[in-house]
Amino acid sequence: MNIEKICVVGAGNMGHQIALCAALAGYKVACTDISQEMLNKSEGFARSYLPERVAKGKLTQDQADEAMANIFFTKTLEEAAGDVDFVIEAAVEKIDIKRQLFADLDRITPPHAILATNSSYIVSSKVAGATKRPEKVCNMHFFNPALVMKLVEVVQGPHTSVETAQITMNLCKTMGKTGILLQKEIYGFVVNRILTAIFNEALFLNDMGIASHEEIDIAVTNALGHPMGPFRLMDLTGIDLSYYKAMERYRETHDPRDKPSPIVVEKFIKGEWGKKTKKGYYSYE
Ligand code: 3HC
Repeated sequence: MNIEKICVVGAGNMGHQIALCAALAGYKVACTDISQEMLNKSEGFARSYLPERVAKGKLTQDQADEAMANIFFTKTLEEAAGDVDFVIEAAVEKIDIKRQLFADLDRITPPHAILATNSSYIVSSKVAGATKRPEKVCNMHFFNPALVMKLVEVVQGPHTSVETAQITMNLCKTMGKTGILLQKEIYGFVVNRILTAIFNEALFLNDMGIASHEEIDIAVTNALGHPMGPFRLMDLTGIDLSYYKAMERYRETHDPRDKPSPIVVEKFIKGEWGKKTKKGYYSYE
């Protein structure tokens, strides 16, 4: 299958950068969101990011112009997805919303289109049933910031055809990413399972008053060589995401250890969701 046009659903933390990655790789891209404000922000980001890359010598003016010409932003899902070959869904991490979106995308997109979800932890078998093309549904999980991070996890669910997994892996490559293919579904895939273990331990040490979040971040960056400590990273990926992820997990397992930590609940309720709200564990004014 020849992919020419991609639709990215959701212009948030992940979606706006995934869309730009695809546009930079030469695909025609429609970026859509229910919020005009998010679309405006995404377009504004692209309009400032591309000239910065040119000024830094990382892109030529022609490459930047081509990427900008490749991408358009629209609130209308029909306009964004009506004639695409591939969809990357990067909407809010709520299962009911995702299931509805997949049902809508199944109705709107051409029958050959592959529908992939960028969800951080929701396996695609939870949304594939909302479509009449489960064999064309899979996970395609990018990392934040998507323009920088090389890895993409592709997950082949029991319903996903080998061809769909292969096309998705090829798409990773043409987008300049390193894909890994997981042939079994598992909550959190590979990276977020490892990251959750680190986050949980960091939150435990902080909740117990053993060390402050700043000290824990200093420890992890200086001793383990991670580019960011766990608290700064939670601010980057979003404390709202940490909360939804833990709640979704707890609803499934009923294991109290899966509940979000008290500090995550407190910050979620206060709307201190990290970089995106300008306050999380740190301030970003
Ligand atoms: N958007 C786009 N590009 C960015 C960026 C952003 N938000 N932040 C930094 N960059 C680019 C810079 O332009 C620069 O590019 P260049 O070297 O080509 O000029 C490069 O990244 C390095 O930037 P800086 O020198 O300003 O900053 P750092 O060296 O501190 O790097 C970082 C910033 C890349 C974010 C680095 O700190 C890092 O790798 N942090 C860890 C990120 C991480 O672990 N991500 C995975 C999170 S888990 C996840 O995403 C799961 C999901 O399910 C939520």
